[in-house]
Amino acid sequence: MSGSLRGQVAVVTGANSGVGRSTAEMLLKAGARVTMVCRSPERGERALAELRASTAAGGRRGARSRAGADEVPDLRSSNSAGVQVELELADLSRQEDVRDLAARLAARHPAIDILVNNAGVTRPRCVHSPEGFELTFATNHLGHFLLTRLLRERLEAGRGRIVNVSSRGHQSGDLRRAALEDIARGRAWEGALQAYADSKLANVLFTCETARRWGSRGITANAVHPGVLATEIWKKTSLAPRLLLLPFTWFMASPDVGGKAVINLVADPAGDDVTGRYFHVQREKTPSAQARDEALALELWERSVEWTRG
Ligand SMILES: NC(=O)c1ccc[n+]([C@@H]2O[C@H](COP(=O)([O-])OP(=O)(O)OC[C@H]3O[C@@H](n4cnc5c(N)ncnc54)[C@H](OP(=O)(O)O)[C@@H]3O)[C@@H](O)[C@H]2O)c1
Repeated sequence: MSGSLRGQVAVVTGANSGVGRSTAEMLLKAGARVTMVCRSPERGERALAELRASTAAGGRRGARSRAGADEVPDLRSSNSAGVQVELELADLSRQEDVRDLAARLAARHPAIDILVNNAGVTRPRCVHSPEGFELTFATNHLGHFLLTRLLRERLEAGRGRIVNVSSRGHQSGDLRRAALEDIARGRAWEGALQAYADSKLANVLFTCETARRWGSRGITANAVHPGVLATEIWKKTSLAPRLLLLPFTWFMASPDVGGKAVINLVADPAGDDVTGRYFHVQREKTPSAQARDEALALELWERSVEWTRG
Protein backbone atom coordinates (compact mmCIF):
# COMPACT_ATOMS: atom_id res chain seq x y z
CA MET A 1 0.00 0.00 0.00
CA SER A 2 3.03 2.24 0.40
CA GLY A 3 2.58 5.39 -1.68
CA SER A 4 -0.88 4.40 -2.88
CA LEU A 5 -2.43 7.60 -1.50
CA ARG A 6 0.42 9.88 -2.49
CA GLY A 7 -0.51 13.54 -2.27
CA GLN A 8 -4.10 12.91 -1.21
CA VAL A 9 -5.46 15.24 1.45
CA ALA A 10 -6.87 13.44 4.48
CA VAL A 11 -8.47 14.74 7.67
CA VAL A 12 -8.77 12.46 10.71
CA THR A 13 -10.62 13.48 13.88
CA GLY A 14 -9.52 12.15 17.25
CA ALA A 15 -6.12 11.43 15.76
CA ASN A 16 -4.00 11.53 18.90
CA SER A 17 -5.05 8.14 20.19
CA GLY A 18 -6.42 4.69 19.35
CA VAL A 19 -8.04 4.11 15.97
CA GLY A 20 -7.58 7.71 14.82
CA ARG A 21 -3.91 7.73 15.54
CA SER A 22 -3.36 4.40 13.85
CA THR A 23 -5.35 5.58 10.82
CA ALA A 24 -3.33 8.80 10.60
CA GLU A 25 -0.09 6.83 10.70
CA MET A 26 -1.23 4.42 7.98
CA LEU A 27 -2.42 7.28 5.77
CA LEU A 28 0.94 8.99 6.17
CA LYS A 29 2.80 5.84 5.31
CA ALA A 30 0.67 5.54 2.18
CA GLY A 31 1.80 9.02 1.15
CA ALA A 32 -1.27 11.08 2.10
CA ARG A 33 -1.08 14.60 3.52
CA VAL A 34 -2.78 14.26 6.87
CA THR A 35 -4.45 16.76 9.16
CA MET A 36 -4.86 15.42 12.67
CA VAL A 37 -7.80 16.98 14.50
CA CYS A 38 -7.34 16.81 18.28
CA ARG A 39 -8.92 18.63 21.18
CA SER A 40 -5.99 18.73 23.59
CA PRO A 41 -2.92 20.77 22.58
CA GLU A 42 -0.64 18.62 24.73
CA ARG A 43 -1.92 15.26 23.51
CA GLY A 44 -2.16 16.52 19.93
CA GLU A 45 1.39 17.90 19.84
CA ARG A 46 2.79 14.77 21.44
CA ALA A 47 1.07 12.56 18.87
CA LEU A 48 2.16 14.87 16.04
CA ALA A 49 5.80 14.61 17.11
CA GLU A 50 5.57 10.84 17.50
CA LEU A 51 3.91 10.38 14.11
CA ARG A 52 6.52 12.53 12.42
CA ALA A 53 9.23 10.52 14.07
CA SER A 54 7.74 7.13 13.24
CA THR A 55 6.80 7.88 9.63
CA ALA A 56 9.94 9.78 8.76
CA ALA A 57 12.28 7.42 10.60
CA GLY A 58 15.72 7.50 9.07
CA GLY A 59 14.74 10.02 6.42
CA ARG A 60 15.11 13.12 8.43
CA ARG A 61 18.41 12.75 10.17
CA GLY A 62 19.35 16.01 11.73
CA ALA A 63 15.83 17.40 11.59
CA ARG A 64 14.79 18.30 15.07
CA SER A 65 11.31 17.52 16.38
CA ARG A 66 9.55 20.84 16.74
CA ALA A 67 6.84 19.64 19.03
CA GLY A 68 8.61 19.56 22.36
CA ALA A 69 6.66 20.36 25.48
CA ASP A 70 7.33 24.09 25.44
CA GLU A 71 8.05 24.63 21.77
CA VAL A 72 5.51 25.80 19.25
CA PRO A 73 5.31 23.08 16.63
CA ASP A 74 5.43 23.89 12.94
CA LEU A 75 1.95 22.73 12.11
CA ARG A 76 2.16 22.98 8.35
CA SER A 77 5.56 22.05 7.06
CA SER A 78 6.63 18.75 5.69
CA ASN A 79 9.85 17.36 7.04
CA SER A 80 12.88 16.25 5.11
CA ALA A 81 11.43 12.82 4.33
CA GLY A 82 8.43 14.42 2.64
CA VAL A 83 6.04 13.39 5.41
CA GLN A 84 3.23 15.87 5.57
CA VAL A 85 1.25 16.01 8.73
CA GLU A 86 -0.34 18.91 10.52
CA LEU A 87 -2.31 19.42 13.67
CA GLU A 88 -5.57 21.28 14.08
CA LEU A 89 -7.11 21.80 17.48
CA ALA A 90 -10.87 21.61 17.91
CA ASP A 91 -13.33 20.30 20.45
CA LEU A 92 -15.98 18.63 18.32
CA SER A 93 -18.62 19.03 21.00
CA ARG A 94 -18.41 22.82 20.56
CA GLN A 95 -20.05 24.01 17.36
CA GLU A 96 -18.05 27.22 17.35
CA ASP A 97 -14.84 25.16 17.33
CA VAL A 98 -16.14 23.01 14.48
CA ARG A 99 -17.01 26.05 12.37
CA ASP A 100 -13.57 27.57 12.95
CA LEU A 101 -11.93 24.24 12.15
CA ALA A 102 -13.88 23.85 8.90
CA ALA A 103 -12.98 27.41 7.86
CA ARG A 104 -9.27 26.77 8.48
CA LEU A 105 -9.36 23.46 6.61
CA ALA A 106 -11.25 24.98 3.69
CA ALA A 107 -8.81 27.89 3.50
CA ARG A 108 -5.83 25.57 3.40
CA HIS A 109 -7.15 22.80 1.16
CA PRO A 110 -9.05 23.51 -2.06
CA ALA A 111 -9.92 19.81 -2.16
CA ILE A 112 -10.24 17.11 0.50
CA ASP A 113 -9.92 13.49 -0.56
CA ILE A 114 -10.52 11.63 2.69
CA LEU A 115 -12.45 12.57 5.83
CA VAL A 116 -12.35 10.13 8.73
CA ASN A 117 -14.93 11.05 11.35
CA ASN A 118 -13.43 9.00 14.15
CA ALA A 119 -13.40 10.95 17.43
CA GLY A 120 -15.63 9.40 20.04
CA VAL A 121 -16.45 9.59 23.73
CA THR A 122 -18.59 7.98 26.35
CA ARG A 123 -19.59 9.99 29.38
CA PRO A 124 -20.49 8.38 32.70
CA ARG A 125 -23.04 11.09 33.48
CA CYS A 126 -25.36 13.27 31.48
CA VAL A 127 -23.50 16.49 30.79
CA HIS A 128 -24.18 19.10 28.14
CA SER A 129 -22.30 20.84 25.36
CA PRO A 130 -22.24 24.65 25.20
CA GLU A 131 -25.25 24.49 22.84
CA GLY A 132 -27.20 22.35 25.33
CA PHE A 133 -26.84 18.92 23.72
CA GLU A 134 -25.97 15.74 25.61
CA LEU A 135 -22.20 15.53 25.25
CA THR A 136 -21.92 12.04 23.73
CA PHE A 137 -24.46 12.95 21.05
CA ALA A 138 -22.88 16.39 20.54
CA THR A 139 -19.40 14.93 20.03
CA ASN A 140 -19.98 11.63 18.28
CA HIS A 141 -22.78 12.77 15.99
CA LEU A 142 -23.44 16.52 15.82
CA GLY A 143 -19.80 17.67 15.65
CA HIS A 144 -19.06 15.32 12.77
CA PHE A 145 -22.36 16.12 11.07
CA LEU A 146 -21.55 19.83 11.10
CA LEU A 147 -17.93 19.38 10.05
CA THR A 148 -18.87 17.14 7.13
CA ARG A 149 -21.56 19.47 5.86
CA LEU A 150 -19.26 22.48 6.10
CA LEU A 151 -16.61 20.61 4.08
CA ARG A 152 -18.99 19.37 1.40
CA GLU A 153 -17.63 21.57 -1.40
CA ARG A 154 -14.05 20.61 -0.57
CA LEU A 155 -14.99 16.93 -0.54
CA GLU A 156 -16.74 17.36 -3.85
CA ALA A 157 -13.59 18.94 -5.28
CA GLY A 158 -11.50 15.99 -4.06
CA ARG A 159 -12.02 12.25 -3.97
CA GLY A 160 -14.70 12.79 -1.35
CA ARG A 161 -14.34 9.62 0.67
CA ILE A 162 -15.98 9.83 4.07
CA VAL A 163 -15.55 7.12 6.70
CA ASN A 164 -17.65 7.37 9.84
CA VAL A 165 -16.26 5.27 12.68
CA SER A 166 -19.35 3.78 14.29
CA SER A 167 -19.59 0.64 16.41
CA ARG A 168 -21.24 -2.73 16.60
CA GLY A 169 -22.82 -1.13 19.68
CA HIS A 170 -25.11 0.82 17.30
CA GLN A 171 -27.32 -2.29 17.43
CA SER A 172 -28.39 -1.34 20.96
CA GLY A 173 -29.09 2.21 19.86
CA ASP A 174 -32.71 3.26 19.86
CA LEU A 175 -33.52 6.68 18.49
CA ARG A 176 -37.23 5.86 18.56
CA ARG A 177 -37.42 5.36 22.33
CA ALA A 178 -38.24 9.07 22.79
CA ALA A 179 -38.51 12.20 20.71
CA LEU A 180 -35.21 12.90 18.93
CA GLU A 181 -35.05 16.30 20.55
CA ASP A 182 -35.26 14.72 24.02
CA ILE A 183 -32.52 12.21 23.21
CA ALA A 184 -30.29 14.91 21.70
CA ARG A 185 -30.76 17.19 24.70
CA GLY A 186 -30.24 14.42 27.28
CA ARG A 187 -33.81 14.68 28.60
CA ALA A 188 -34.31 10.99 27.76
CA TRP A 189 -30.99 9.93 29.36
CA GLU A 190 -30.90 6.20 30.13
CA GLY A 191 -27.25 5.85 31.06
CA ALA A 192 -23.86 6.07 29.41
CA LEU A 193 -24.10 2.89 27.36
CA GLN A 194 -27.46 3.83 25.85
CA ALA A 195 -26.18 7.33 25.01
CA TYR A 196 -23.10 5.82 23.33
CA ALA A 197 -25.15 3.27 21.38
CA ASP A 198 -27.58 5.99 20.26
CA SER A 199 -24.72 8.15 19.01
CA LYS A 200 -23.22 5.21 17.10
CA LEU A 201 -26.61 4.47 15.54
CA ALA A 202 -26.70 8.14 14.52
CA ASN A 203 -23.32 7.60 12.80
CA VAL A 204 -24.78 4.84 10.60
CA LEU A 205 -27.97 6.78 9.82
CA PHE A 206 -25.89 9.84 8.92
CA THR A 207 -23.73 7.65 6.65
CA CYS A 208 -26.75 6.32 4.76
CA GLU A 209 -28.36 9.72 4.36
CA THR A 210 -25.08 11.28 3.20
CA ALA A 211 -24.73 8.55 0.58
CA ARG A 212 -28.30 9.14 -0.62
CA ARG A 213 -27.94 12.92 -0.77
CA TRP A 214 -24.40 13.35 -2.02
CA GLY A 215 -23.89 10.31 -4.24
CA SER A 216 -24.53 12.36 -7.37
CA ARG A 217 -21.78 14.76 -6.24
CA GLY A 218 -19.19 11.98 -6.32
CA ILE A 219 -18.94 11.78 -2.53
CA THR A 220 -19.03 8.39 -0.83
CA ALA A 221 -19.77 7.67 2.83
CA ASN A 222 -19.36 4.39 4.68
CA ALA A 223 -19.55 3.40 8.33
CA VAL A 224 -17.27 0.97 10.08
CA HIS A 225 -17.13 -0.92 13.35
CA PRO A 226 -13.35 -0.93 13.94
CA GLY A 227 -13.24 -4.05 16.16
CA VAL A 228 -13.11 -4.44 19.91
CA LEU A 229 -9.83 -2.73 20.58
CA ALA A 230 -7.57 -1.91 23.48
CA THR A 231 -7.83 1.88 23.37
CA GLU A 232 -8.35 4.74 25.80
CA ILE A 233 -12.11 4.85 25.27
CA TRP A 234 -12.79 2.09 27.78
CA LYS A 235 -10.97 4.01 30.51
CA LYS A 236 -13.30 6.95 30.10
CA THR A 237 -16.58 5.13 30.61
CA SER A 238 -18.47 4.71 33.90
CA LEU A 239 -17.19 2.39 36.61
CA ALA A 240 -19.61 -0.51 36.15
CA PRO A 241 -18.91 -1.21 32.46
CA ARG A 242 -15.22 -0.53 33.10
CA LEU A 243 -15.07 -3.23 35.77
CA LEU A 244 -17.14 -5.54 33.60
CA LEU A 245 -14.76 -5.10 30.67
CA LEU A 246 -11.55 -5.30 32.68
CA PRO A 247 -10.91 -9.04 32.20
CA PHE A 248 -11.63 -8.76 28.49
CA THR A 249 -9.08 -6.02 27.86
CA TRP A 250 -6.46 -8.79 27.66
CA PHE A 251 -8.20 -10.15 24.60
CA MET A 252 -8.83 -6.87 22.84
CA ALA A 253 -7.12 -6.31 19.50
CA SER A 254 -4.61 -3.59 18.68
CA PRO A 255 -5.93 -0.22 17.45
CA ASP A 256 -4.19 -1.05 14.16
CA VAL A 257 -7.00 -3.49 13.41
CA GLY A 258 -9.31 -0.45 13.37
CA GLY A 259 -6.81 1.63 11.40
CA LYS A 260 -6.64 -1.06 8.72
CA ALA A 261 -10.43 -1.29 8.58
CA VAL A 262 -10.59 2.44 7.84
CA ILE A 263 -7.77 2.32 5.29
CA ASN A 264 -9.53 -0.58 3.59
CA LEU A 265 -12.37 1.83 2.80
CA VAL A 266 -10.28 4.63 1.36
CA ALA A 267 -7.24 3.10 -0.31
CA ASP A 268 -8.69 0.86 -2.98
CA PRO A 269 -9.64 2.79 -6.16
CA ALA A 270 -12.01 -0.07 -6.99
CA GLY A 271 -14.09 1.01 -4.01
CA ASP A 272 -15.00 4.37 -5.51
CA ASP A 273 -18.60 3.22 -6.00
CA VAL A 274 -19.00 1.70 -2.56
CA THR A 275 -21.21 3.99 -0.51
CA GLY A 276 -23.88 3.94 2.18
CA ARG A 277 -22.57 0.64 3.56
CA TYR A 278 -21.72 -0.62 7.03
CA PHE A 279 -18.59 -2.68 7.63
CA HIS A 280 -17.78 -4.89 10.58
CA VAL A 281 -14.01 -4.37 10.54
CA GLN A 282 -13.28 -5.34 6.91
CA ARG A 283 -16.45 -7.29 6.09
CA GLU A 284 -19.62 -5.68 4.90
CA LYS A 285 -22.59 -6.41 7.17
CA THR A 286 -26.21 -5.44 7.42
CA PRO A 287 -26.62 -2.88 10.21
CA SER A 288 -29.55 -2.90 12.66
CA ALA A 289 -33.14 -2.43 11.48
CA GLN A 290 -33.22 1.12 12.85
CA ALA A 291 -29.97 1.94 11.06
CA ARG A 292 -31.75 1.04 7.80
CA ASP A 293 -34.82 3.14 8.57
CA GLU A 294 -34.77 5.79 5.83
CA ALA A 295 -37.45 7.91 7.47
CA LEU A 296 -35.43 8.04 10.68
CA ALA A 297 -32.25 8.92 8.75
CA LEU A 298 -34.08 11.77 7.02
CA GLU A 299 -35.55 13.02 10.30
CA LEU A 300 -32.16 12.89 12.03
CA TRP A 301 -30.55 14.79 9.15
CA GLU A 302 -33.19 17.51 9.14
CA ARG A 303 -33.15 17.93 12.90
CA SER A 304 -29.35 17.96 12.91
CA VAL A 305 -29.40 20.80 10.37
CA GLU A 306 -31.64 22.76 12.76
CA TRP A 307 -29.48 21.91 15.79
CA THR A 308 -26.30 23.06 14.08
CA ARG A 309 -27.64 26.25 12.58
CA GLY A 310 -25.17 28.87 13.79
N1 LIG B 1 -12.07 0.79 21.03
C1 LIG B 1 -13.07 0.03 20.61
O1 LIG B 1 -13.15 -1.18 20.92
C2 LIG B 1 -14.14 0.62 19.74
C3 LIG B 1 -15.21 -0.21 19.37
C4 LIG B 1 -16.19 0.31 18.53
C5 LIG B 1 -16.10 1.61 18.09
N2 LIG B 1 -15.08 2.42 18.47
C6 LIG B 1 -15.04 3.80 17.97
O2 LIG B 1 -13.74 4.11 17.53
C7 LIG B 1 -13.55 5.55 17.57
C8 LIG B 1 -12.20 5.85 18.17
O3 LIG B 1 -12.19 5.44 19.52
P1 LIG B 1 -10.93 4.73 20.19
O4 LIG B 1 -11.36 3.39 20.60
O5 LIG B 1 -9.74 4.89 19.34
O6 LIG B 1 -10.82 5.59 21.55
P2 LIG B 1 -9.77 6.67 22.05
O7 LIG B 1 -8.40 6.10 22.08
O8 LIG B 1 -10.34 7.19 23.33
O9 LIG B 1 -9.81 7.81 20.94
C9 LIG B 1 -10.87 8.71 20.85
C10 LIG B 1 -10.36 9.99 20.24
O10 LIG B 1 -11.43 10.92 20.14
C11 LIG B 1 -11.00 12.17 20.70
N3 LIG B 1 -12.10 12.98 21.20
C12 LIG B 1 -12.97 12.67 22.19
N4 LIG B 1 -13.79 13.71 22.39
C13 LIG B 1 -13.44 14.68 21.52
C14 LIG B 1 -13.92 15.98 21.26
N5 LIG B 1 -14.93 16.52 21.96
N6 LIG B 1 -13.33 16.70 20.29
C15 LIG B 1 -12.29 16.19 19.59
N7 LIG B 1 -11.78 14.97 19.79
C16 LIG B 1 -12.36 14.22 20.75
C17 LIG B 1 -10.07 11.74 21.83
O11 LIG B 1 -9.31 12.85 22.26
P3 LIG B 1 -8.72 12.89 23.79
O12 LIG B 1 -7.50 12.01 23.77
O13 LIG B 1 -8.43 14.33 23.97
O14 LIG B 1 -9.80 12.35 24.68
C18 LIG B 1 -9.28 10.67 21.11
O15 LIG B 1 -8.31 11.24 20.27
C19 LIG B 1 -14.73 6.08 18.37
O16 LIG B 1 -15.66 6.69 17.49
C20 LIG B 1 -15.34 4.85 19.02
O17 LIG B 1 -16.72 5.00 19.22
C21 LIG B 1 -14.08 1.94 19.29
